[in-house]
Amino acid sequence: MKINNRLKTIGDLVPLSSYPLDIGCDHALLSIYLVKEKKLPKVIASDNKSGPLKKAAENINFYKVKDKVKLVKAEGLDSYESGIDTITISGMGGLNINKILDDNKRYLKNIKTLILSPNNYSLAVKRKLTKFGYHISNETLVKENNIIYEILVFTKGRKYYRYKKLFLGPVLMTKKDILTKEYYKKLLSTKESLLKALPKSFVSKIRLTKKEIKYLKEILDLK
Ligand SMILES: C[S@@+](CC[C@H](N)C(=O)[O-])C[C@H]1O[C@@H](n2cnc3c(N)ncnc32)[C@H](O)[C@@H]1O
Repeated sequence: MKINNRLKTIGDLVPLSSYPLDIGCDHALLSIYLVKEKKLPKVIASDNKSGPLKKAAENINFYKVKDKVKLVKAEGLDSYESGIDTITISGMGGLNINKILDDNKRYLKNIKTLILSPNNYSLAVKRKLTKFGYHISNETLVKENNIIYEILVFTKGRKYYRYKKLFLGPVLMTKKDILTKEYYKKLLSTKESLLKALPKSFVSKIRLTKKEIKYLKEILDLK
């Protein structure tokens, strides 16, 4: 089936023995990929809007996977059903992802793995999930249409991270490939622009941004 590299990468990180719930499924292509190509027995695809769900239903019919992909209209984690042990959320802002998880955190006791790909505020997502008792077991980057997407895998089990490790990414910071370097370079440029724009009265934000710039320069081997 046709699926972009970002969704394929997310799909390939879903454990093969899991029962996943994809929140904000839109077209449901990730769920279809999971049952069609990865041979998962069943998945739930959910979204809170009718337009995306209509598209999802058409795709599910087209790929003939109606018996394996359950489509649910629900707000965030309201789509949780007993047996679900994995959650995927991609293509949403990090603060929206945090809100979805916060609003129904009681369900997280049954969730072993979360694969999250926030469009922004990934540090806030990492902080939230470590507070919920997960650690970061994998971090991957995918570049599409000149945008670098972060894909984070959280696994149940508490781990303490110092700020530097959480900021750079405990797995990402061990990688030396070109895309990781490009990601850090872009982040450095964002932080340098932010530092220039911050009013002098934002003392603690200035201190934190300077620290982040130092960490980024260190990992990039810049003076
Ligand atoms: C940009 S699309 C991303 C689709 C797909 N996950 C992907 O990565 O390609 C975001 C989808 O999330 C849905 N969405 C946003 N907030 C939601 C919420 N709180 N609960 C359920 N779905 C939500 C939107 O309706 C939209 O279809």
